[in-house]
Amino acid sequence: MKETKPVRVPDLAAMKSRGEKISVLTAYDATMAGLFDQAGVDVLLVGDSLGMVILGGSDTLEVTMDDMVRHTRAVRRGTQRALVAADMPFMSYQTSPADAIRNAGRLLQEGGAMAVKIEGGQPFIDTVDRLVSAGIPVMGHLGLLPQSVRQLGGFKRPADTEEVAAILIEEAEALERAGAFALVLECIPAHLAETVSARLRIPTIGIGSGPRCDGQVLVSYDVLGLTARSPSFAKKYAQLNTVLTDAARAFVKDVKAKHDG
Ligand code: KIV
Repeated sequence: MKETKPVRVPDLAAMKSRGEKISVLTAYDATMAGLFDQAGVDVLLVGDSLGMVILGGSDTLEVTMDDMVRHTRAVRRGTQRALVAADMPFMSYQTSPADAIRNAGRLLQEGGAMAVKIEGGQPFIDTVDRLVSAGIPVMGHLGLLPQSVRQLGGFKRPADTEEVAAILIEEAEALERAGAFALVLECIPAHLAETVSARLRIPTIGIGSGPRCDGQVLVSYDVLGLTARSPSFAKKYAQLNTVLTDAARAFVKDVKAKHDG
């Protein structure tokens, strides 16, 4: 019997307490969201990775609030059960907590998101606290921060040192205290992800951070074999690029065969 009770924010902590792993995939449109929802994915993240996999950019920085609202609304329309969370794009929350509240409010009101995700630790603890106080559920994001890619000089894993680990643990605990309901850990050492997961009550959702997180998230286009280059940690569950080009090639062949001459 298919489970149709919608996943809500408090359900994720309950899943952690009973040891049930949380599955998260990115989604950007209603059709794919519907398919992932039927497959039982717990959380659909409207990631600002859409700047790369949908808009063809080399990073996520060009994504605007209007892009995020539009794609979040589409994903919500395709979803019945999964919790839909939306990324706050670059410069939608870094400028001030007031901007963050206004923009996160748009994702909930206009996009229908159940929650928002913001990248970063110490500089955004107050912002997270203010968002949560305004009734906006927040997912944190530590480790590799794609919105800082130009500052970092590329998509680089954080250094595996004790100092970096200590800061990350401190920031993870501060985000939990500020009211974040879950925390994405991107490309951090597996041993550190395990430590953070054990110390926090809220669930951790890993990406390229080993198997010991409370859940796992991947970019759906990587998982489906749609992206030309995907990170080594992203297991491919299908090779849809060849399926799609073969189908399009067959269509072209059919059309060309039906000439009048
Ligand atoms: O934008 C995104 O898709 C993300 C995931 C990689 C966690 O933030």
